[in-house]
Amino acid sequence: MNAFQLKNGELHAEGVPLSAIAQQCGTPTYVYSRAAMTEAYQAYADAGRRADGSAATQVQFAMKSNSSLAVLNVFARLGAGFDIVSGGELERVLAAGGDPRKVVFSGVGKSETEMRLALSHDVACFNVESIPELHRLSAVAAAMGKRARVSLRVNPDVDAGTHPYISTGLKNNKFGIAFEQVLGAYRAAATLPGIDIAGIDCHIGSQITQVTPYLDALDKVLELVERLESEGIKIHHLDLGGGLGITYDDETPPQIGEFVSALLVHLTHRGHGHRQVLFEPGRSLVGNAGLLLTKVEFLKPGAAKNFCIVDAAMNDLARPAMYEAYHGIRPVKPHIDAKADVYDVVGPVCESGDWLGRDRSLAVADGDLLAIMSAGAYGFVMSSNYNTRPRAAEVMVDGDRFHVIHDREMVADLMRGERVLP
Ligand code: LLP
Repeated sequence: MNAFQLKNGELHAEGVPLSAIAQQCGTPTYVYSRAAMTEAYQAYADAGRRADGSAATQVQFAMKSNSSLAVLNVFARLGAGFDIVSGGELERVLAAGGDPRKVVFSGVGKSETEMRLALSHDVACFNVESIPELHRLSAVAAAMGKRARVSLRVNPDVDAGTHPYISTGLKNNKFGIAFEQVLGAYRAAATLPGIDIAGIDCHIGSQITQVTPYLDALDKVLELVERLESEGIKIHHLDLGGGLGITYDDETPPQIGEFVSALLVHLTHRGHGHRQVLFEPGRSLVGNAGLLLTKVEFLKPGAAKNFCIVDAAMNDLARPAMYEAYHGIRPVKPHIDAKADVYDVVGPVCESGDWLGRDRSLAVADGDLLAIMSAGAYGFVMSSNYNTRPRAAEVMVDGDRFHVIHDREMVADLMRGERVLP
């Protein structure tokens, strides 16, 4: 689905003209489509059903990609679990009405406090990333008179073919337990008083546009599962992580359904079709379900370049500055016959790295609204207050209505808790 389409000469989110949102809420504002999120979730759920209708898969929304309460609530209502990476994210799941017993807890640096919080809410599984973490978790759980269900995160050493900052399954990444050490780690886990072995986990990176790296990783995971079970260590579920890419520009990732089916078919061929499979998608559920609405402040013709200065900046959407990421930029009300010029679209922040798009051909005028596309994942969550810029408002569109799901910050919010010396 494309939830953002031109109707009557104006870009809409579902049935709502973006100019109506800008008029009521101002800019910059993140705009999400409930229908687009729902459709992406259903694609995972539908492809994950067995012939008899039972679920072979469970979606754990990787909420690091978008943790706004209304977004979490949409997924919770659809039946999603959540992949969390901090105690703070668990508190958000609870506040959004999510079920903590459907939570998997990932991350390389879980503190004792976070472990206790997660155990007290009976989370489904801890994805453990190191042997010291396993010992800490066992001690914390045993002291509470509990046992923690765990998967060990295997680092399969496969190349996901993505940006180095978002590739996680290579030997030199900080993530997971090295393939050669995993058997030993499971044997140790099986003897620990506070640990119950539940599954095995693997996540190889993000914005992956091919199935092959997943199949390679899956083969390595299955090799381990077979070894473990031959030693009497039972593995109940396989967590295959997230990472499926989306189209920002001209990428052609597999469709969600195709991707899930390819993995399930491969599992069946290898004799593991009966296993419960978890996915931890973030970007593929929300990335193209959101945009960042911004207004042109000035057009600044330069000696070597033209600049289109907008009111959104790197503090609102960090991906271009951080990864040189491409985001489509569309005028909300295209001037049909106007001549286009080539611009760098930049924000007001005092850094040359503050750009949102480079060399874009646009027919724009001061005051025009622009939509920075594909901003639903790793957009608002990575925003900051750099240059004392309040964070943007967030809006969720649902059919022909829209709801402000997060008020724009005020400068006073930014100074809360600060004090000067006596
Ligand atoms: N599971 C684990 C253990 C992860 O580390 C991640 C993402 C995911 C699931 C979800 O991956 P996704 O389906 O969203 O690709 N800030 C970067 C992306 C960082 C991804 C970190 N881990 C960006 O803006 O591209």
